[in-house]
This record gives sequence, C-alpha cells and structure tokens, in this order.
Amino acid sequence: MTSDSPPAAAHGGAIRVPVPLGERAYDILIGRGLLAEAGALIASLGARRSVIVSDETVASLYADRLIASLAERGVGSTMIMVPPGEASKSYESLAHVCDAVLAARIERGDLVIALGGGVVGDLAGFAAAIVRRGVRLVQIPTTLLAQVDSSVGGKTGINSRHGKNLVGAFHQPSLVIADTSALDTLAPRELKAGYAEVVKYGLIDDAAFFAWCEDNWFGVLSGGEERDFAVARSCEAKAAAVARDEREDGDRALLNLGHTFAHALERAAGYDAARLVHGEAVAVGLALAFRFSERLGLCPRQDANRVEDHLNEVGLPTRLQDVPGGCGSAEWLLDAMAQDKKVKDGALTFILARGIGQSFIARAVPTDTVRKFLVGEFYAPR
Ligand SMILES: NC(=O)c1ccc[n+]([C@@H]2O[C@H](COP(=O)([O-])OP(=O)(O)OC[C@H]3O[C@@H](n4cnc5c(N)ncnc54)[C@H](O)[C@@H]3O)[C@@H](O)[C@H]2O)c1
Repeated sequence: MTSDSPPAAAHGGAIRVPVPLGERAYDILIGRGLLAEAGALIASLGARRSVIVSDETVASLYADRLIASLAERGVGSTMIMVPPGEASKSYESLAHVCDAVLAARIERGDLVIALGGGVVGDLAGFAAAIVRRGVRLVQIPTTLLAQVDSSVGGKTGINSRHGKNLVGAFHQPSLVIADTSALDTLAPRELKAGYAEVVKYGLIDDAAFFAWCEDNWFGVLSGGEERDFAVARSCEAKAAAVARDEREDGDRALLNLGHTFAHALERAAGYDAARLVHGEAVAVGLALAFRFSERLGLCPRQDANRVEDHLNEVGLPTRLQDVPGGCGSAEWLLDAMAQDKKVKDGALTFILARGIGQSFIARAVPTDTVRKFLVGEFYAPR
C-alpha cells in the first residue's frame, strides 16, 4: 500500500477493496449510504434468511433501514439484541446469541449479519463461527474502528476473566459493507478512538499515509471525501496483511503495533468505557511503542514526538497519566502484559519501530527493560 496511488477500484459508486484469500476471498465495500443497498448485496450471496445481531444503540438507529432493504430483496431477518459495550463480549452474551441463531432456524446457507461496532462484530462473528460448526457472516461495521480494523480479517471472539479476546476463532466474513455515513451519528470520542487505528497503518509501514493523516485528519473526522479515502486505505493495508498471513503466524502481528500496551491499559481501567475505550488505549499504546523504541535507541526522537504530537492534536491520549483513574503500577502492567496472548515462552513480544512507517516484530524483549521503561513513564513529566 502506498499513499500516492489512487484508492481501490470503484464498484457501483462504492470503493471495493478485495481480500484475496482463495476460497475464503471476499470484498469490503466502502461508501456513504451503502446500508440502503445491503439487501441487494446480501441477496446476491444467495441467502434467503438472516439474523441481525446488533446492540440496542445501533439497532435503534439503523436496524429498520437494514431490515427494509433485506425485505425488498426477499431476505428474511430476525433481530438479536445485546446491550452496548465491551461487557457484551462475554460467555453469557455468546450463549444468548448462539441460542437465538438456532431458534431462528438459521442453517448453513443462511447468514449472520453483524450490525454494529467491534463488540458486536467480534461477538456475532464468533457465534457464526461455532453455531452448526460455522454459518456465513456479513459484517456491517458502524464505528470507525470496526470499519478500518475489526470487521476485516476474520478474528472473532469474546473476553475471559484472564484477559481480552482470549476465547475466539478465525472466521472470515463473506462480505463487509462499510457505510461511512453511519459514522455521522457516532460519538466524537468513539470516532477519534477509531482514528487511532487509521494512524496505526501509517505508522506500521506507510510514512506517506501518516503524513497524509497529519494534513487530513479533520476531513476524516468530519466526514468529507477524506473519510472514505482513509477507510479504504486502512482496509487495503489490513487486507494485504491478512492475505499474507491469515492466521497471524508471521507478519500480521505488525497490526498489533501499540496493542500489547493497549490491552494491559484496558485491563487496568477495568474495561470501563467511561475511563478508556479500546481506540484510546491504542493511541496511548502507539505513543508508548514509539517512545519505547526511542528509549532503546532504535527510533529517532523526532519521530516519537511526531507520533505523540499528531495524536494529541486530534485529542487522543498518549500518556499513562492520561488514563482517568490511573493504571496501576509498572509491575501491574507487566503482569497484565504477561497474560496477553502475544506472549511466547514467557518472553514479551513487542512491535517496535525504527521510525515512522518502519515497524518490526521484536521477540524476547527482556521484562526488565520493559519494567524500567514503564517506571520512567509513570514519573515522566508531560
Ligand atoms: N476482531 C478484530 O480484529 C478486532 C480489532 C480491533 C478491535 N477489536 C475489538 O473491537 C471492540 C471495540 O470496538 P468499537 O470501538 O467499535 O466499540 P463498540 O462496538 O463498543 O462501539 C462503541 C459504541 O458506539 C456505539 N455505536 C456503534 N456504532 C454507532 C453509530 N453508527 N452511531 C452511534 N453509536 C454507535 C455502540 O453502541 C457502542 O456504545 C473491542 O472489543 C476490541 O477488542 C477487534
């Protein structure tokens, strides 16, 4: 992916980003107002029946439009609702969704539709992966985070008391429909949080896209053409990483830039959205990953500063002190990181960077090095 090439191919007014995965290949369609076309797009997959999994907030805004669009094309639908928020990625909600899918007599030719943010996508996706040993899934992501990240790539799952996303499955969707106008109703805080994942793609391997973000972030948040471009560019980056390494045996792990820190911070904040949402944790995690890389002598200070300045300009947190209510101690965070699934043989794996757009996987980072860095971060002046 480079930022000087035009966005992905057009498809009936929408941008189409293919995810080339052989017999599991699918398209991501991106554009304003696409929800009205969802019925036609889903009917073309040959489904006659569907269940729509959504949270109460999203359903009140978009379910009627989706149900009507499906009905127009003769696709039946049953609604399954969960409460909004991370707490719905639980065993209880999973059982509720699986039972409701079975009660709706959804069979292997039918479809589960995830209408919502990453929480709904991960939960409904996991249910689709395991009910009747797998039914087809369509993702209709309605947050920026879900449009640029969680709806693409097939990772699904729920949280355990041992940590986030520890119980799950790979289950690729058959189609992703990203209606960028749905983001108009998203709370500004959630929009900004999702933007952290957009920035991440530039930081991983596309310095030109990061520079584009520095110049165009306001358009992305306010819903101009820049938004569709940023979603498409991000999806292209994610699709390419997933196509190279579907099950994260290799460099798909680069997509976890900032996430080892982020997951520990979310845990420290008790998964309490009032304190910290996932994308905000990612913003702090990205800034930490670059400062850690700088501290290790890998990354120029000016690049670490640029990352922090950009995230701050957008209004995203970048420091441990920015987490409302605090986030424990260095020892506590280290312990939380050790619980994270990105730990192999007791050694910590981090995604570090030699500069903006030059990230790499660093295995076996000594815990003591991380401890010293975190202690410094707790006491660092802003
Ligand atoms: N599977 C993956 O690859 C992957 C990648 C990144 C993150 N995730 C997961 O995604 C989850 C976070 O997702 P999220 O940030 O989308 O949060 P979310 O799903 O909780 O949505 C955030 C809030 O926005 C509301 N909302 C959603 N769409 C809306 C709209 N269009 N208008 C108004 N309100 C709307 C929701 O009701 C919710 O209250 C985390 O659980 C994280 O672990 C998964």
